[in-house]
Amino acid sequence: KRYTASVNFDQRLAMFDIEGSLAHAAMLKKQKVISAKDFKLIIKGLNQIKKEIIGLKFKWSIDLEDVHLNIEKRLTQIVGEPGERIHTGRSRNDQVATDMRLYLREVVDQTIDQIKDLQRATLNLAENNIMTIMPGMTHLQIAQPVSFAHHLHAYYEMLERDKARFQDSRKRINILPLGAAALAGTSYPIDRKFVAKLLKFEGVMENSIDAVSDRDFLIEFNANASLLMTHLSRWSEELIMWSSPFFEFIEISDSFCTGSSIMPQKKNPDVPELVRGKTGRVNGHLVSLLTLMKAQPLAYNKDNQEDKEPIFDVADTISDTLNIFTEMVSKLIVLPKNMEAAALKGYSTATDLADYLVKKGMTFREAHGVVAKIVKFAIDQQSDLSGLELKTLQKFSKLIDKDIFKFLTLKGSIQSRNHIGGTSFTRVKAALKQARSNLSK
Ligand code: ARG
Repeated sequence: KRYTASVNFDQRLAMFDIEGSLAHAAMLKKQKVISAKDFKLIIKGLNQIKKEIIGLKFKWSIDLEDVHLNIEKRLTQIVGEPGERIHTGRSRNDQVATDMRLYLREVVDQTIDQIKDLQRATLNLAENNIMTIMPGMTHLQIAQPVSFAHHLHAYYEMLERDKARFQDSRKRINILPLGAAALAGTSYPIDRKFVAKLLKFEGVMENSIDAVSDRDFLIEFNANASLLMTHLSRWSEELIMWSSPFFEFIEISDSFCTGSSIMPQKKNPDVPELVRGKTGRVNGHLVSLLTLMKAQPLAYNKDNQEDKEPIFDVADTISDTLNIFTEMVSKLIVLPKNMEAAALKGYSTATDLADYLVKKGMTFREAHGVVAKIVKFAIDQQSDLSGLELKTLQKFSKLIDKDIFKFLTLKGSIQSRNHIGGTSFTRVKAALKQARSNLSK
């Protein structure tokens, strides 16, 4: 029983199971498959069961295998023979598929709201850091200076795609399998569209075999969750690095960190590390579900009972993660001076110097070579580029004039990237404004 039963974990579908049964019963009554009297009793019984479950008074039994049989048995205990009529014209196969869709629809709606909350926290932080300069990186090497808000806006955009994916998946979740019965449909005169309307489904599944065997919607949800977690994991990786003494770009609020049990000086970024770690777990569930489905013949097989634990865990993990991540972002402390110092140290305006020479007529390849020599010289002198004298610079190229200095500063470099998607302060400000207005729609 311990091996075959699912009641220990599928009891969390109880409210959705009852919701489905109420709609099914209403349809059976309308179609005169059950009497009005039986219908009344069934409703009364199901509502009582709801109360028992909420009040933790309901006795779940492993002898009754799963959530569906537990509830049906209790219904019969309460109202007698009419309780046995609730299963007319349906099977647990279309019942469980309906429950999972009702459950996931709610999870997806909540996920979308939580993503919006994190986007809001991200925008708040970005709006306060438009003029904060950080070294943009490629290969984890200092590349070009960017506005810190621009960097944060990149995460906002990732979340925007995550949100869109969850929103789009909703229409494939929100269709009714009930009526498929075991796999072939039923001989009772059922009205599936009526049930769909009661349960707020946008349509009914068109093929009864597909209706009971399809788990695409769960895999799709897990895949969307994996991408979301992948984004939060990348971000976490940056928070971990930025908060280390090698960077010191930010401080993560104490409540998201722990001390070391042996090294008194340490503050460990536990929360972002766990986000990174839990991403592995969500990705693992995706592989579980794909593997669960890959060799199943149509239609329903008991294998499908294994879909629940991974999906519940994915849903719980992304919900907890979005929650704690949003709070962590809202309490992040930014250290702008350190960010700017790092950008200066890394010769991050070298490209601007090369671009300057190109605008004065040199080819980009030649300019690249000239600037490489200047950077090497500056490193030897332990100076940054804007610290070199004009006369010194002119030794490397006659094209260099005193107007060069406005390009060699971090601010000048940033301001020159003034096009859609660029990091100039004006563009970043506009992008944040746009994001803010999209979010409030
Ligand atoms: N507990 C089962 C599941 O989770 C419900 C469906 C059982 N159907 C069956 N024919 N045994 O999939």
